[in-house]
Amino acid sequence: MRFDFDHPIDRRASDSRKWNRYGGRDILPLWVADMDFAAPPVVVDALRARVEHGVFGYGYETRGLKEATVDYVARRYGWKIDEAWLVWLPGLVCGLNVAAAAIGEAGDEILCATPVYPPFMSAPTNQRRRTVTAPMVRRGGRWELDFDALERAVTPRTQQFFLCSPHNPVGRAFSRAELEQVAAFCERHNLVLVSDEIHCDLVLDAIAHVPAATLSPAVAARTITLMAPSKTFNVPGLGCSFAVIPHAELRTKFARATQGIVPDVNVLGYIACEAAMRHGEPWRQELLAYLRGNRDLIEQTVARGELPGLTMTHIEATYLAWLNIEPLKLTHAAAFFEQHGLGFSDGAPFGAAKNTHLRLNFGCTRATLIEALARLRRALAAAAR
Ligand SMILES: Cc1ncc(COP(=O)(O)O)c(C=O)c1O
Repeated sequence: MRFDFDHPIDRRASDSRKWNRYGGRDILPLWVADMDFAAPPVVVDALRARVEHGVFGYGYETRGLKEATVDYVARRYGWKIDEAWLVWLPGLVCGLNVAAAAIGEAGDEILCATPVYPPFMSAPTNQRRRTVTAPMVRRGGRWELDFDALERAVTPRTQQFFLCSPHNPVGRAFSRAELEQVAAFCERHNLVLVSDEIHCDLVLDAIAHVPAATLSPAVAARTITLMAPSKTFNVPGLGCSFAVIPHAELRTKFARATQGIVPDVNVLGYIACEAAMRHGEPWRQELLAYLRGNRDLIEQTVARGELPGLTMTHIEATYLAWLNIEPLKLTHAAAFFEQHGLGFSDGAPFGAAKNTHLRLNFGCTRATLIEALARLRRALAAAAR
């Protein structure tokens, strides 16, 4: 291993939202989706060189950045994009909100499948649209989109479908066949497909990520793909993301909705993005191996029956585990685990019934995860008493 993901970095001494949420309390933060690892050295070096320059005036997307992005997407997914299709954004929550505002009118509906990353549900309402949800199903030990439920939920006012692919929080990397079903559904109801693929480079299993827009030119024409180096290379605090929108009219609508509201990406974000895309692959490969180790440790602990009352499905992608703790019948689940030194994300804002699910972020050192699992065993033993 060239990169040391075991190396502990004290983030409490930094501006980390994740680590400072619990102040001086002994609670392991396993919530917001950033990782406890330093960014790839190639990224840190590029940032250092840029900082040394010392002048931080307004920037723009350089030719080098655009080339790096086009090359990256081609190399990783065989997707040949035109750099003119790119719209740069300071974040993907921003991208979801811009998409919500760009299409249709106030009162129109945007559909998504739950559980899901909470801004999928808040972006439409922020932008005076209605959020409509359809529950996913747990079938044969995995979470799937429920197309019957989606068909029941869609109405003539539904304008867009927000897809999370790979899926936060259930950890699915959807197959081509599943994505084709999504595309057919969107075509049938003439929906714009907003495909948030921020986790696309964090597929842990031998499943190729398929950008929805690569399914066919017709699908590409109705799709807004949202991507970023932020999750993969652990630079979300640098705020650099992009939308890929092949259809000119759709792109114009999207770009218009950003005008005067969405600021340019900061110059350090651009630098980090380009360096990660050009040179980050060896680091990413080792990261994936490390995250697989963390994922396996959690899944094996559950399989050995050491976490009674807790179930989960296999995690194909992301560094997030979606834990079902419904059998424990806790009244304040997240607070209960905090009392046992564990800071999970509460499942309710993701659309789960209250006190039934928690999300565990395993983008941490193995030592932190081992300690978290020890605390979890003790917490579950206490819950059973
Ligand atoms: C699916 C998904 N989209 C967007 C984001 C956040 O993106 P950003 O920090 O760029 O707004 C996250 C972060 O966890 C996410 O999981």
